Amino acid sequence: MLTQTQQNMIAQTIAFVKSGSAGESTGHDWWHIYRVEKLALYLAEKEKAELFLVRLAALLHDVDDWKFNAIGSAHAENWLKSLDVDAETIEKVVHIIAQVSYKGAGEDTMPDSIEARVVQDADRLDALGAIGIARAFAYGGSKNREIYDPEVLPVMHADFEAYKTKVSHTINHFYEKLLLLKDRLHTSAARELAEKRHEFMEEFLKNFFEEWNFEEDGRRKIEDRSRK
Ligand code: ADP
Ligand code: NI
Repeated sequence: MLTQTQQNMIAQTIAFVKSGSAGESTGHDWWHIYRVEKLALYLAEKEKAELFLVRLAALLHDVDDWKFNAIGSAHAENWLKSLDVDAETIEKVVHIIAQVSYKGAGEDTMPDSIEARVVQDADRLDALGAIGIARAFAYGGSKNREIYDPEVLPVMHADFEAYKTKVSHTINHFYEKLLLLKDRLHTSAARELAEKRHEFMEEFLKNFFEEWNFEEDGRRKIEDRSRK
């Protein structure tokens, strides 16, 4: 249970994040944060993680990605200071956020607290399934990327630098990242939720290619018939 003061801090943080992320169209909008907080809370209860830390970290995990962010990497920290959150909690939340958004080589460092593992799982779950598909194409569109190009094959990037600079179409993002996420989750509750989301993406891709190849198949059938 949260204290009244903690509940007020959460409410103010919600208002802060909501207003700060207005108009975000690259997948870091308020509703992403809203879903991640909800998922994180669900996982935190299963894992007996500390709810106050999890909620603050989930709410603030993407504020440093806001494109109009003027304060830089201290954004979440400054916000918590302005709320008079105690120094130890601020340090923990900032550490969780740093671990959640870490995208270094290999990308697979295990976060050192259950709170960080829960928030990272929640963030990854929101990149999967129907929502994940919608976010991938919204993100691709915002970066002027094509939906698909059969001549550009997926690349398994060796490091984050290569990953960041590579411009590819959005279908490749499924093979380069989204289909790999289910095996990178830390908690069993998240793995359970990921199953259906993963299957749905596979089904989506199967249909996508069926529709993409429609003309080719049609032509082949006509040719076959003419040979008889
Ligand atoms: P998050 O907001 O979950 O911390 P990211 O900033 O990595 O994660 O990505 C935001 C959203 O945009 C995610 O749904 C992710 O799958 C999608 N995305 C990131 N990079 C690409 C890409 N190269 N192509 C398509 N979608 C992408
Ligand atoms: Ni996120």
